[in-house]
Amino acid sequence: MIHATLHQLKVFESAARLGSFTKAAEELLITQPTVSSQIRQLTNTVGLPLFEQIGKRLYLTEAGNELFLTCQGIFEKLDNFEMKVADLKGAKQGRLRLSVVTTAKYFIPKMLGSFLNLHEGIDISLQVNNHDVIQTRMLGNKDDLYVLSHLPSDLDLIAQPFLENPLVVLAHKDHPLAGRKNIPIEELNNQPFIMRESGSGTRQALQTLFAQHGVNVKVKLELGSNEAIKQAIAAGLGISVLSKHTLISQCTDSEVVILDIQNFPIHCRWYIAHLAGKELSVIAESFLQYLLTQNPPLRSPNLGMAY
Ligand code: PGA
Repeated sequence: MIHATLHQLKVFESAARLGSFTKAAEELLITQPTVSSQIRQLTNTVGLPLFEQIGKRLYLTEAGNELFLTCQGIFEKLDNFEMKVADLKGAKQGRLRLSVVTTAKYFIPKMLGSFLNLHEGIDISLQVNNHDVIQTRMLGNKDDLYVLSHLPSDLDLIAQPFLENPLVVLAHKDHPLAGRKNIPIEELNNQPFIMRESGSGTRQALQTLFAQHGVNVKVKLELGSNEAIKQAIAAGLGISVLSKHTLISQCTDSEVVILDIQNFPIHCRWYIAHLAGKELSVIAESFLQYLLTQNPPLRSPNLGMAY
C-alpha cells in the first residue's frame, strides 16, 4: 500500500461512500475517466478487486469494504490533525458533525449560532432524525457528537445528561379532558390518538408507559414529525404525547393545551454523547464543553429515565 497515493484513497473513499463513480467525480470536481483510472491503479496496488458491478449498482467487495473502513479512519485522523494545527495557530477551523433527535432542533440551532459567533471558521453539519436513525448513524461512526434522550444499551457511549425533556399529553383546547386536574391515565383508553412513527424514542417511551398501565389508545394517525402532530391536534384529529419543548410560540400552539394526566410528564433528559472509542476533534471537544457550560450537566438522580 506504500505505493497508493492519498489522492487515490480520496477518490476511492468518495466512490465507495456515494456508490457511484459519477457522483465521486462530481463531488471531487474531476472527470469520471480520472476516477476510473485512479481506482484502477489502486486496485492494481491492492491486488484484489475493490468494487463489483451487479446490474447498474456498484457494490464493495470484501477487500473494498476493508479499504473503505481504513480510509475513513485515515481521513478522520487527517481532519483532526488539521483542526489541531489550526488550533495551535490560534484559530478554530474545520467541521463539526452533529446528529440530534427531532426535539433537539428546538434549541440546538440557537446554541450552534452562538458557538459559531465565537468561532467563525467552523462549518457545521447538523442531522435531525429519530432515535432509530441516530443509532444507525452511531453504528456507522458518522458523526462527532449526538444529542438524544434514550441511550442505546448495546453501544459503548460516553454520555452526559444536560437538559430535562419532559413528554406531555397534548390535546385541542376544547377537548373534554382539557382543564380537568389529575386525570387517571386509564381515561386515555380508547382516545383517538396521533402516534409518532416506529423508530421514534417518544413512541417507545410512551408505549412502555401505556403497557405498564394497560392503556390502549385508538391510533388514528401515525406521523413522523412533531410539527405535523401539533397541526393534527390543532385540527382536532386526536391527542398525542410530545416533548414539552415542541411547544414554542406558533399559531397552532394557542389551540393546543397540556392535559394533566397522572404518570405524566414522562421524565426524559437529553444527553450529549459520543462513541467511547472516538477521538474527539478539537472542535467537537470545544462544542461539547460549550454546551455543558451553557447547560451544566444534570446530576440529580430524582429524574431518572421512566422506562
Ligand atoms: P424521537 O426523539 O424523535 O426519536 O421521538 C425525540 C426525543 O427523544 O425528544
